[in-house]
Amino acid sequence: MIKTNIDEIDFSDLYNQQKKISTFESKTKEDWDNKAPYFQEKIYNSAYNDSFIKKINLSDCKTMIDFGCGVGNLSIRLAKKLKSVTSIDYSKEMLNYLEKNAKEEKTTNVKTLNLSWEDDWSEVPKSDLFIASRSFTSQDLKTTIEKISSVANKRVYLSTNASSSYVSDEIANLLEKDIIGKPNFVYIINALFQMGYFPKIDYIDGFSKRNRYNTPKEFIDSIVWSVGQISDVDKKNLTDYFYTLKEEINGQRYYEEKTKWALISWEVFE
Ligand SMILES: C[S@@+](CC[C@H](N)C(=O)[O-])C[C@H]1O[C@@H](n2cnc3c(N)ncnc32)[C@H](O)[C@@H]1O
Repeated sequence: MIKTNIDEIDFSDLYNQQKKISTFESKTKEDWDNKAPYFQEKIYNSAYNDSFIKKINLSDCKTMIDFGCGVGNLSIRLAKKLKSVTSIDYSKEMLNYLEKNAKEEKTTNVKTLNLSWEDDWSEVPKSDLFIASRSFTSQDLKTTIEKISSVANKRVYLSTNASSSYVSDEIANLLEKDIIGKPNFVYIINALFQMGYFPKIDYIDGFSKRNRYNTPKEFIDSIVWSVGQISDVDKKNLTDYFYTLKEEINGQRYYEEKTKWALISWEVFE
């Protein structure tokens, strides 16, 4: 194989180095357990679901793995078009909601597995399609990509925040805390290419989500979920900012957030 200087770059290593210094720390399964009611209320029926599904090529696929499935917003919709779906998440609370949702939808072809990206996947059934929507995380990119390819027969879709940050520049600029980015999708694309895949890249765009808050504390807590603990000065700045947000008739204030999702896909070779 003819080499170029990009071959000297270890994208797995770069990904890990950036992850280590990033402000945006990995969440625990308990964090996600606590977030499950929010996902049920706000995400289960959100506009993102249809936008994601529209971009998925289901041809020749009968079975699917949905990794980091959350409350089942994609699993249950896609189960209606497939023979069977394996929905995997390390948060038991998310899976509890998914099972309730499946029952309500009279969907009987979804099975759940309580596993993480890092666990042994020997009980994961090989499936035609593998999706991981907004849930990808890795301790070693090459190992995770190999693990995914070992359970996917045909096609893989990963969606991840296209930006390196979970907070907007506007919020980051209000904080005295230094915000250090997380590794974004570009690391994944490059690692895939180096492994011999030809990843495609698409974007799920134009999402304007209104996040509503009753109190400055609720607003501050939502920022702390992303960036970790902040100083009293930062809390004061966020409180002042909260009172500049538009107010609705019921007294809630809202912060309008635009998110662009990168959708990486590849065909698994036989
Ligand atoms: C942002 S939610 C996305 C849920 C759903 N896929 C969607 O797009 O709406 C991230 C999900 O990934 C799960 N998750 C995060 N880290 C994980 C890990 N290391 N192993 C398994 N699941 C994980 C969380 O429990 C959560 O349900």
